[in-house]
This record gives sequence, structure tokens and C-alpha cells, in this order.
Amino acid sequence: MPRENNPILDQIGKHASVRAYRPDPVPAEDIDAIVAAGQRTSSSSNLQTYAVIAVTEAATRNTLSHLCGDQDQIRQAPLFLAWCADLSRLDRATVLRGHPHAHNTVESFLIAAVDTAITGQTAALAAESLGYGICYIGSLRNNPAEVITLLGLPRLMFPLFGMTVGVPAHPHRLRPRLPLRAVLHHERYSRAAEDAALAEYDRAMIATGIYEGRQVAVPGKPGVMEDYGWTEHSARRVSRPTRLGLRAVLRDQGFDLE
Ligand SMILES: Cc1cc2nc3c(=O)[nH]c(=O)nc-3n(C[C@H](O)[C@H](O)[C@H](O)COP(=O)(O)O)c2cc1C
Repeated sequence: MPRENNPILDQIGKHASVRAYRPDPVPAEDIDAIVAAGQRTSSSSNLQTYAVIAVTEAATRNTLSHLCGDQDQIRQAPLFLAWCADLSRLDRATVLRGHPHAHNTVESFLIAAVDTAITGQTAALAAESLGYGICYIGSLRNNPAEVITLLGLPRLMFPLFGMTVGVPAHPHRLRPRLPLRAVLHHERYSRAAEDAALAEYDRAMIATGIYEGRQVAVPGKPGVMEDYGWTEHSARRVSRPTRLGLRAVLRDQGFDLE
């Protein structure tokens, strides 16, 4: 298929997170089709170490919204998908077949996290191809112990991220991405193009208006201000640790990683 008029590339190119939804329910057949599409994704050794809980009941979505930073979109969207790393299924397989289960390694958790993430993204693309909007919800990890209880997750299952799904209430604007040269390297990693690419990206993100014309002090130049852009925003985001309780909840769920 050529790059031009390629429906899959076109679909991918239209992605924008949707945070406002119409109330129309997502039919059960569509939920099945979305998750079944996700299942076609490659999987490490075909272990398929993920599971997803589809939540449509308003009361559960209300509680999830509360647990996920009170995000209104979770109350609004008719469907919430809770994507979970799942080593419990393989644990049962090892018991069934009389083998030990070497699950307590960073590697086995990474396998499950990668499998879950790529499966979720294929499902997201499938949902978008059916006319739905989606938004990932990393805040599912804000209160993981409560989410585990609410969704009845057994030992060796862990909620990694959520996803709101529904018909968008209005069109959503595309958010620019980093220039390709900042993320694509040929043969060997090279930082050469990165500084200019970051400055270019700051300008592109400022132009979207997303930072509402905010100003910020220029580091090392007292009294000099400049536009607040992606580098400032992102540096602030990663300047503080988040979700420090995760390790303890992981351990309680059976992931005592070595
Ligand atoms: C793992 C992950 C977690 C996210 N968590 C949230 C969230 O909790 N709430 C939210 O509104 N957006 C969330 N997002 C959406 C991102 O903010 C969004 O993808 C990013 O700003 C790029 O915008 P775009 O998806 O519209 O292109 C998340 C995205 C990912 C991949």
C-alpha cells in the first residue's frame, strides 16, 4: 500500500486525546471488536500477559474518576478500559503443569508492562477507527490498592493504565510532536540535532496556545523572562517524584521484583 492515501497512516495521523464525550453507550460488539483487535498485537513469547476490565456501570466509573484524580472525563465517557499486567493466568498455568513460576523479576514485570501497553495502543487505534475517541488514564496508578479492590484483581494482576472511550463531544485539535530528528537516529544515537529541535518544538507548542501565554524566568539571567514552552513544562513535570507508593502495592500483589 502506498504512503499516500493509506487509510491506516491517515487514521494514526488523526489521533488526539479526547476528554469530552457524548453519553451514547459503546455497544458490547464494539467493545469486543476493540479488544479483539488489541489481541492481534505481537506478544513477548506469545505469553499475552495482560487483561483488560471494561467498565460501563456509572457507579463504578464515578468511583474510578474519584480514584483517578477526579477526572470528569471518566464519569462522562460511557466506557472505561482498565488495562492490567496479568501474570496470574500464567501462574495458574504453572500450577496446572507442575512448574515453578519465576515471576519475581524486573524482566517478567517489564514483559507484562510492554505487552499490556502495545495491546492497549492497538485497541486504541481500533476504537478510533470505529469513530470513538480515547484518552489514556495514567492516574489509574494514583490509588492502585483501591483500584485493585474495586475491580477485584487477584494476586499477580496490576492496573497499569486506564482508557476512556466514547463518541467525542466535539472535534479535538492535534498536539504537535517533537521534530522527527529529535527522536529518529540513524545507525547510532546522535544528540547533534537535538538542541535546535527542542527550541523549534517549544515554539510549536507555544503557538498552540496550550500554555496560555505564560512567561518564565530564563535560567541564569535574572530578571529576563521568556515564553513558557514544552521544555519548561516537561522539566517541571519530572522535577518531582510521583506515585511513590507503587512499590509497596506491587509487592502486596505478588510482584516482589528482584
Ligand atoms: C500512559 C499515558 C497516561 C496518560 N494519562 C492521562 C491522564 O491521566 N489524563 C489525561 O487527561 N491524559 C492522559 N494522557 C494523555 C496525554 O496527556 C496525551 O497523550 C499527550 O498530552 C499528547 O496529547 P495527544 O494524545 O492529544 O496527542 C496519558 C497518556 C499516556 C500515554
